[in-house]
Amino acid sequence: ELPFAESFRIKMVEEIYRSTREEREKWIEEKNYNLFNLESQKVFIDLLTDSGTGAMSDKQWAEIMTGDESYAGSQSFQKLKATINKITGYEYVLPTHQGRAAENVLFSALVKEGNVIPGNSHFDTTKGHIEMRKAHAIDCTIDEAFDSELIHPFKGNIDLQKLEEQYKKHGKENIPFTLITITCNSSGGQPVSVDNIRKVKALSDQYGIPIFFDSARFAENAYFIKEREEEFKNHSIKEIAKIVFDLGDGMTMSSKKDGLVNIGGFIALNNEELYKICGNFGIIYEGYLSYGGLAGRDLAALSQGLHEATEYDYLKSRISQIEYLGNKLIEYGIPIQKPIGGHAIFIDATKFLPHVKREEFPAQTLGIELYKEAGVRGVEIGTILADRDPETRENRYPKLELLRLAIPRRTYMQSHMDYIAVALKNIFDRREEIKTGYEITWEADILRHFTVELKKK
Ligand code: F0G
Repeated sequence: ELPFAESFRIKMVEEIYRSTREEREKWIEEKNYNLFNLESQKVFIDLLTDSGTGAMSDKQWAEIMTGDESYAGSQSFQKLKATINKITGYEYVLPTHQGRAAENVLFSALVKEGNVIPGNSHFDTTKGHIEMRKAHAIDCTIDEAFDSELIHPFKGNIDLQKLEEQYKKHGKENIPFTLITITCNSSGGQPVSVDNIRKVKALSDQYGIPIFFDSARFAENAYFIKEREEEFKNHSIKEIAKIVFDLGDGMTMSSKKDGLVNIGGFIALNNEELYKICGNFGIIYEGYLSYGGLAGRDLAALSQGLHEATEYDYLKSRISQIEYLGNKLIEYGIPIQKPIGGHAIFIDATKFLPHVKREEFPAQTLGIELYKEAGVRGVEIGTILADRDPETRENRYPKLELLRLAIPRRTYMQSHMDYIAVALKNIFDRREEIKTGYEITWEADILRHFTVELKKK
């Protein structure tokens, strides 16, 4: 059998600057050891996020040229709507400028003070939009998800007992919907099975509670279903996506991930009344119903991107690239979250750097080491991100202290993966010498990770 190879080739390239270690040591010190502060040209391989950082295809760029910029009723919107109708089965479509904007519009219509929104782990902005409305996001992810060594095919699944407890305790009066994030970013890009969604649906029907999807990586989720759930091994990705969306009442989308575009989002629903309420918020916050804060050309490129992102070959090359990197790291003995997720590798920093104390931020320390070693930028998902307890002002120590390496779509090559793996191996080989981390010299009251200033311990 022939080995798998990407079914695309490259016809435009972007040069990236390969800096020296001396340059990087100077730059990161000048930026107070905060990776967000670095100008992008000082980064060789940028794994900060897979959001809006991917490469569009020639067909998407062609759509950019022919986009219809009419304020109302643009043909590009019609095209996008038809694509979303086909892929999701949802009739009503409201574009927004990105995923969190879709959350803002939908939650403005549905979430009231004191409400409870259960689900698997909510993404940060989703949680933020819920908590901003004085409501509560309750994490009902299965316990297996929190053991990074444990292998389970669907670590994004919802624990039905935890969910029913919430339903019993709060009832449909206080639960406007249950939110299923596919794939579950916060538990490591881990998928949710159709079997689990069916069970969540059956339970939610009993209690009269609707289901919505946070669908940023719905195509990657469908790929895992095809690979890991026997019943669907002969289904196409588009068929699987449709089966999943059929089990819910609507979705929010960050098109910057599985829409294969650099900016955009949308809401899709099957309820006309709710669409009309959302439409009013959409018009106030985002723009008219047929563009939602985006240019006509963005809508057109997204329509094409959704077709491409739901093709099996594309998804196989995408997920295989992350598995390739992850398997190299496993081979080197580097502790990562298992199984390997859909969009990123999560390194267990407390295991990687056993001598760096939790209060000296092991994941941030590893992120800085990796930047200095090779110009690779990851992101800390650990104590700095977790902020302080609002009451005690003490650091909150999350269960896992992780460095996330998110892989942009269709952007880097296998040699980049080899380079990243060797860079990490070099650090891993001298981990015994890394004894101290960093201390905070300045921080903001909330969301401190974006602007925090640090100095070496
Ligand atoms: N939902 C999920 C699951 C996400 O991962 C994100 C963004 C959003 C919603 C918000 O979408 O950025 O378009 O407003 N995740 C990015 C990340 C930022 O790096 O994981 P947005």
